[in-house]
Parts: sequence; C-alpha cells; structure tokens
Amino acid sequence: MRKQIAAANWKMNCTYQQGEKLLDDILKAKPALGADQLVLFAVPFPYLIMAKSEVADEKNVQIAAQNCYHKKAGAYTGEVSAEMLDSIGIDYCIVGHSERREYFNESNQDLAEKINLLLSFDMVPVFCCGEALAVREAGQQNEWVAKQLEESLFHLSDDQIKKVVIAYEPIWAIGTGKTASAAQAQEMHAFIRSVLAKKFGQPTADQISILYGGSVKASNAAEIFAGADVDGGLVGGASLIPEEFVAIIKALK
Ligand code: 13P
Repeated sequence: MRKQIAAANWKMNCTYQQGEKLLDDILKAKPALGADQLVLFAVPFPYLIMAKSEVADEKNVQIAAQNCYHKKAGAYTGEVSAEMLDSIGIDYCIVGHSERREYFNESNQDLAEKINLLLSFDMVPVFCCGEALAVREAGQQNEWVAKQLEESLFHLSDDQIKKVVIAYEPIWAIGTGKTASAAQAQEMHAFIRSVLAKKFGQPTADQISILYGGSVKASNAAEIFAGADVDGGLVGGASLIPEEFVAIIKALK
C-alpha cells in the first residue's frame, strides 16, 4: 500500500517552548502507527533539531522542513539549503506551498530546482500544488494543476518521482474553514494520479502518496481520507491543537 501520511505544517507559529509542548502532547496521545502510516511534523527551521530529537524513539514519525532554497550554496543571506537540512538529519521538506508561491514568488521552475537538490541528498520533497478560487470558478483547475506537475516534476526519472510526496491544496480552502468536499478532493486526486500515470506509467503513479490540504480537521478528516486516491492530509491550523491532530492521525487509512 502507498504510505498514508498525516503531515502537520506549523507554518510561522509557536515559540520554541510552545512547539516542544505541542510535540510532546501529540506524541503522548497519538495511536501506534501501522507500517504504511507516517506522521510528519513540518516545523520552523530553528526547531528542527529539537523536534528531531523529540521523535528519535518514535516509529514512523519524521520531521520535515517547510522550505529550502533553490540554489546549492553561496551568498544567499537568510536562506537554508537542502544540504544544510540533510546535514542535520532531516529527510523531508515541503516544496512549493501556495504561501511560498504567492508571497515569495516561487515559480514552477524554482521548485523543479529545489526538488532536484532535495533528491540529490536523498531527501523526500513534499510537493504542493493547487489552484486559486478564480481558477476553480473558471473550471480551469485541472489544466492549472497539470501545468504545475509538468513544470516541476516531469523532468524526473521513474525512480525519482517515486520518492516525491504530492500535496493537493486548493488555495481557496487554506485557512478559510472552507474545505473541498470529499468528492472534490477525490476527483482532483484521481486526476493528479492520471497525469502522473500518463507520464510515468500506472504502476509508478500508484506508488505515489497524494495528500489533501485545506481546512482538514478532526471532524472532516475521515471522510476526506476515505477517497481511494487520498493518502492523508497536510494540515495547518488543526495541527496546532493536540486533540485535533491526534484525531486526524487516527483517521488515516
Ligand atoms: P489549513 O489546514 O490551516 O487550512 O492549512 C492548510 C495548509 O496550508 C497546510 O499546508
């Protein structure tokens, strides 16, 4: 089975002390995870080492960075490279979150570079895609998402694409309380898998985990995750509330 993943994206939230307590509370209350289940915590850069040591004894729990720079190294003040993350033992990194695309002008081409760098260090990119409300209202969401996949992922080899996790996050559902319906999520996830299958073949596409993100919470997670092509969620707001995120973990297939 594909990995079923509950990924917490803390974004720019929590002090160090709050983050430590949040992790502690969730780790204490979470259920034991199956072999095909994974819990990810994407925490701010200054907390990566602390978070890594907090989960050191946990099974199927990993720490992710929320971003990395698209250049290997050099005079890029304030940026963090894939190699730096690798050097502190981080194996996962979110790439192309809509907030990065919107506020930091990250292009599909920049994201292709980030993915190449992460894969060169054997790290797993969690690649985000998804359309804005205007695109959905114009009925253009499939073309939009297909272009994001093509421009950032289609240069990869079969072996490389199998390492990538994809997160579909409709921008209109992020932090708005508005969730895509379970049917809308499943429909887009099946479309994403079909785009991957056309390029890389069905057996490869079938191995790629596709997460849904956008106002996932305890009350809707099970219904959304039930979709055949929905392999868990990338969770913002609800991942900052221990009981919410634990319930979301419990909703994994
Ligand atoms: P919310 O769960 O707060 O809508 O955020 C989703 C998200 O952007 C996760 O990366």
